[in-house]
Amino acid sequence: MTEIFLDTANIDHIKEILEWGVIRGVTTNQKIFLKEKGCNFEEQSKTILKLVEPYPVSLEGPNNLDELLKTAREYNTWGENVVIKVPMLPDGNGLKAVKILESEGIKTNVTAMMSVNQAFLAITAGASYASLFFNRIRDSGDNPVEVVKQSRSIIDEGGYKTKLIVGSIRKPEDVVEIVSANPHIITIPYKILKQMPYHERTVSTLEEFDRAWIEFKKAEKKQ
Ligand code: E4P
Repeated sequence: MTEIFLDTANIDHIKEILEWGVIRGVTTNQKIFLKEKGCNFEEQSKTILKLVEPYPVSLEGPNNLDELLKTAREYNTWGENVVIKVPMLPDGNGLKAVKILESEGIKTNVTAMMSVNQAFLAITAGASYASLFFNRIRDSGDNPVEVVKQSRSIIDEGGYKTKLIVGSIRKPEDVVEIVSANPHIITIPYKILKQMPYHERTVSTLEEFDRAWIEFKKAEKKQ
């Protein structure tokens, strides 16, 4: 069973999609916040955390270990549902951050991961979440479905607590591919999620039913 998160920092989009009853969390990053130009990071994050509560909201920290720890501890005071996105740093310092923060009771989501080896390390370090970037993996020439499947088996076979998130979704068809690889979570951008209820045959079927109803009502026996 794969749950859906929304990959956005836009408050109107979060409000709209929460009403659908399909999302179980929100993920953000620096690029996503850049789209919300002019907002205040702390204020916007606190509003999102409140809206999405009790579901988790991932806020990304900086790439330097000391800064990351300081920032994570600060963000963590903003709500019960804060998750700190920890970058998979090439020198292993991201893993170190996971170990420290998780031991302090701060939930982490290791992000920007492109390989099974990276996921294996994040899982073993005790991250609450591990994020694989589907289309960026494909861009680098690997098979993202296999990366997701293998990472999920490491978690299941080892009995680890980590929940696997798959992001970097570019079209509705990606969702189908990802769900078949069975991660715990898929994080979908608003633009893609909005396209998912649509099917042209559904629209034409509903129009056909509408026409039938009008005809039925015209001929309906009066009481
Ligand atoms: C996931 O948590 C990330 O925010 C996101 O999906 C990154 O995807 P991109 O490749 O669209 O930047």
